[in-house]
Amino acid sequence: MSQITKEDVIKALSTVDDPDLKRDLVSLNMVKEIVVDGTKINAQVELTTPACPLKDVIKNDCITAIKRDIPEATEVIIDLTANVSGKSKDAIMPGVKNTIAVASGKGGVGKSTVAVNLAISLAKDGARVGIIDADIYGPSIPLMLGLSNKTGLRQDPVTKKLAPLESYGIKLISIGFMIDDDNPVIWRGPMASGALKQFMTDVSWGELDYLIYDLPPGTGDIQLTLVQTIPLTGAVIVTTPQEVSLIDAKKGLKMFERVNVPVFGIIENMSYFIAPDTGKKYDIFGSGGGEKLATELNSKLLGSIPIDSRIREGGDTGKPIVAELPDSENAKVIIEIARNLAAQISIKNANEKMNDVEIQL
Ligand SMILES: Nc1ncnc2c1ncn2[C@@H]1O[C@H](COP(=O)(O)OP(=O)(O)O)[C@@H](O)[C@H]1O
Ligand SMILES: [Mg+2]
Repeated sequence: MSQITKEDVIKALSTVDDPDLKRDLVSLNMVKEIVVDGTKINAQVELTTPACPLKDVIKNDCITAIKRDIPEATEVIIDLTANVSGKSKDAIMPGVKNTIAVASGKGGVGKSTVAVNLAISLAKDGARVGIIDADIYGPSIPLMLGLSNKTGLRQDPVTKKLAPLESYGIKLISIGFMIDDDNPVIWRGPMASGALKQFMTDVSWGELDYLIYDLPPGTGDIQLTLVQTIPLTGAVIVTTPQEVSLIDAKKGLKMFERVNVPVFGIIENMSYFIAPDTGKKYDIFGSGGGEKLATELNSKLLGSIPIDSRIREGGDTGKPIVAELPDSENAKVIIEIARNLAAQISIKNANEKMNDVEIQL
């Protein structure tokens, strides 16, 4: 029996494709370390996101390929690690890899609820996540993350940077921290975009894999100014299945198109209701709207979230469902959507990098 070499392992792994990136792990430079100890093989595979929805598939494919091509192996261990791909093109937040806007055509569709739960899902998978609450009409993220009693922001005396607040492992800056509840500020476009710029330049964000922006609802001038202010990796659109809401979502999609920001997909919220007692499904706002819209606009439906009183309560009490009831069916739905989003981000980053992939082994 000939000795197993690292090259044998690399050869076997070069037959395994990343199903999302549609190329093999070796040429994607995802195979990091290989240790061969007699007939024992240990390989480290580095994913482009810890929220990869196909983690288990990739791991199993690696094991299958090695066992098939190296039958003498008695033990095959694949360690999955992750190094999130991406880099904001702009130098204003050098430590932030990906910036994602969560937008909606109109208010009340659950944009902030979705933003918060997506953020927590990504963080639970191991990503470093921040939120900028840029909703000048209704900054609600502090409440949803249990930080509503906080006012003002601490400034580092040396760097003069503002420190983001933290909850559930998420870093947060909110426009709400700048507004006095009793004296609501009337924001105009330039003021809002000035504040948003400050949230990017004057905040010590540190290293972040994903920075999520909760944008004000709508597709007017203020939103357009904001979208042009932020260096965005991409956007997601939250909608409900009603006709009017879908028309608004369409406008949102068009807005991002106009400024060349890719839309990763549509999230349909309050899609249906499952009666807790009978388990019967009710399509409160009609059904299939999000799917239809996604097809029509050549976009993706990242998922559909049902109406669930625990989702609302979680928001009202600062205990988001994904953090408080992670094993509930609907938390799992949201976690899956977050992973689908992470996959879309990885695909975009890989496509951009495709030309200069280096094989380093
Ligand atoms: N899937 C859902 N099930 C039940 N209530 C929801 C759901 N999504 C959002 N809500 C509730 O709907 C209201 C509006 O949601 P919010 O996230 O504030 O919307 P937006 O940010 O779009 O204005 C909130 O009370 C929230 O708790
Ligand atoms: Mg909101």
